Amino acid sequence: MQKEKQWEGYYSNYFNKASEKGINALEILNSEWYDGKKTAEESVLPYLKADDVILEIACGIGRVSKYVAPFCKHLFCSDIIDEALTEAKINLKDFNNVSFQKINGYDLRVFDDNYFDLVYSFTTFFHFDFELVLKYFEEIKRVLKPAGIAIIEFKRWQDKKDVTELLEKIEAQGGIVTYEKELDKWRYVSKEILKVICDYYDFQILDDNVTSFTFRKSDNI
Ligand SMILES: C[S@@+](CC[C@H](N)C(=O)[O-])C[C@H]1O[C@@H](n2cnc3c(N)ncnc32)[C@H](O)[C@@H]1O
Repeated sequence: MQKEKQWEGYYSNYFNKASEKGINALEILNSEWYDGKKTAEESVLPYLKADDVILEIACGIGRVSKYVAPFCKHLFCSDIIDEALTEAKINLKDFNNVSFQKINGYDLRVFDDNYFDLVYSFTTFFHFDFELVLKYFEEIKRVLKPAGIAIIEFKRWQDKKDVTELLEKIEAQGGIVTYEKELDKWRYVSKEILKVICDYYDFQILDDNVTSFTFRKSDNI
């Protein structure tokens, strides 16, 4: 099935909750997921330069984009579903250095080689099967400039606490039968697995915290 079809309607629940409360859906995501401003400040801004051209993979409705846009030359927000891009455009309407691009969910073919100084993605790659992560890393390597940086959020798989958290999530979503059919599944990685992929693609790891995994493309490519 096309990725777009799988994810269509993903934000309806958040839009409904927001309209019941008379607030912007971003406020719901900031409290239920994680504050977008904090994500930008903690994970992206430390690596950002004012003249950087940036790509956000899976921008959603702009939770993090809003707090990155003021600090770069140009931000390309990409996602696979129209409902996300439409809402992101509204939420980022005050910025004239932001563009929006629909992508197919498998690759970044709409973007040129060696184009971006930085690529980032939050709350998304841990929903992907491992094969898709591998292919996205290949594409990230292609679109990054030499020495360009990528920051990707994964779920850590580290200790008993993570097992407990996952078991609770499965129950909260109605048990394993329902959970298995849902989009909102978590996939886990370890530092070791990510290191193997980075070695393969010749990426230098800058931060091996898997929840804000940061790596740099080699500068001699
Ligand atoms: C949980 S939301 C996160 C949105 C945003 N990154 C944030 O943190 O607020 C996941 C987003 O990933 C997008 N998405 C799902 N599969 C994708 C894929 N294969 N490639 C790119 N984006 C995808 C969805 O449309 C959705 O907007």
